[in-house]
Amino acid sequence: MPGPDGYVVLGLYAGAGVTVNLTGRGVFENKTCHFPTRVTYYFLIDLKSACTMIPFDFLPDFPNLPRFIHGEGCIKELHEVVSSLGVQRVLLVTDPGLVKTGHVGYVAKILNDAGVSVTVFDAVVENPTTLEVDHCVAAARIGKINAIIGLGGGSALDTAKGCNFILSNGGIMKDYWGMGKASKPMLPFIAIPTTAGTGSESQSFALIADAESHVKMACGDSKAMPTVAILDPLLTLTQTAHVTACTGVDALAHALESAVTLKRNPDSWPYSVASFRLCINNLGVVIADPENIQARYAMQLAAAYAGLAIERSMLGAAHAAANPLTTHYGIVHGQAIAAVLPAVIRYNSRLAPIAQLYAQLAIEAKLVREDMPTDSAVDVLVATVCGLLQCTGLDTGLGRLGVPQTWLASLADEAGRQWTAGFNPRPITAADFESIYQQAL
Ligand SMILES: [Fe+2]
Repeated sequence: MPGPDGYVVLGLYAGAGVTVNLTGRGVFENKTCHFPTRVTYYFLIDLKSACTMIPFDFLPDFPNLPRFIHGEGCIKELHEVVSSLGVQRVLLVTDPGLVKTGHVGYVAKILNDAGVSVTVFDAVVENPTTLEVDHCVAAARIGKINAIIGLGGGSALDTAKGCNFILSNGGIMKDYWGMGKASKPMLPFIAIPTTAGTGSESQSFALIADAESHVKMACGDSKAMPTVAILDPLLTLTQTAHVTACTGVDALAHALESAVTLKRNPDSWPYSVASFRLCINNLGVVIADPENIQARYAMQLAAAYAGLAIERSMLGAAHAAANPLTTHYGIVHGQAIAAVLPAVIRYNSRLAPIAQLYAQLAIEAKLVREDMPTDSAVDVLVATVCGLLQCTGLDTGLGRLGVPQTWLASLADEAGRQWTAGFNPRPITAADFESIYQQAL
C-alpha cells in the first residue's frame, strides 16, 4: 500500500486526522506526515522484501500508543529519551540473566551518562507474582524514582508495569485486575524488550500471578501503556535458541489468535496481518541463523505488532489451553502454545467465517493465491504453522512433556475457565479443550 510520499510501507496505525513525525534515519529522516482521512498504513517494512528494515523513530500524537524507536543499536537513543522525559531517578527492572549478558550495565551507563541516577531491581522471575511486584515497589520507593524502565522479556516488562500501578495509584495488584482501574496518572515507563515474543512493550496489560492462589491476573489500563518502546534487535541476540523458539512461537500465536477473536475489529486486523507475515517470513530464519540481524529485527517488530493487535482484540483458546500447562507442569509458555496451537486453529476453522479469516491470513502472507478455496487455504496455513513449529525444534508432545492422560479432563476444565477462552471465536467447552489436549499428547 502506498504510504507517505509514495513509500511502500507496512502498517502501524489505522485512523483519521493523524499526524506522524518520522525522525529516524534513512528515507524517513525528519518528515512529518498528516493523514486527514481514515487510513490504515503500515510502517517501514517493504512489502516486497520483508527483510528490508528501515530504522525509525515513531512519535504518535494520539493516545494509547508508545513512541516506538526501532533500529540496530538504537538503545543509544535512551540518552535522548530520558532527557526529553525529564527523568532524574529511574528504576531499572530486569532479571539476573540480563545482568550477566552485560545489557544491564550497558543501559545503566547510558543513563548515568545522561545524568540519571539508577536503582536496579534485578530479581524478576519468569511468570512474576505479586511477591516480586511488592519487592520491586519497595526498591522503587527507596530510590525515590520518577520513571521506570523494563529491560528484558515479558516478565520484566510486566513486573515493571505492575510496580507502576501500585507506585502511582497505591493499593495492591489485585485492585487493578481487569481493565481501567487506575484513577491517577502513572510514571513514564520505557519498555526495552530483549526477546521477541510477548509484545508487552506495546500493551497496557501486566500479567501478574497471585502469589498465593497462582491465578494469573491481567491488569490493564491505558495509562500503563509504555511511554516509549525501544526495539533494538542487537539486544535480542543474547537469547538462547530455546528462548528464541518459545518467544517466536508466542508472537506467531498472538498474530493468529488476535486475528480471529470475538473482539477482532478493523483496527486490530492490520496489526495481526503484519505480525503474521513477519513471523512466517522470519521465525524459521532466526532459528536457523540466530545472528541474522534483519530477521531478528523483523521478529522484534512482529512481536510489537502482535502486542498492538492483542491490545485491541485479545487472545483465544490456544492461550486458554496453554496457561494450565504452565501452571501445573511448568511448561514454558511458548512451548505450551506450540503444543496446542494447530489443534485450536483446526477447531476454530470449522466455523465458516473464521475459516475465511484464516484463509485471508494465508493470502496476505502469500502462502496461497487469492483464488484458492477456503478449506485448502486453511490446510496450507495449518501445514505452514506445523512446519514452523517443527523447525523450532520444540518438543510439543504433552505426554513427553510430563502431562499424564488422566489429568487432561481436569486441565480442560481449568482451560475452559480461563479469561481468554471467552474471546475465542468459536464457543468452546471443557470437552472441546480435552479433545485439543488429546490431539497434542
Ligand atoms: Fe502469549
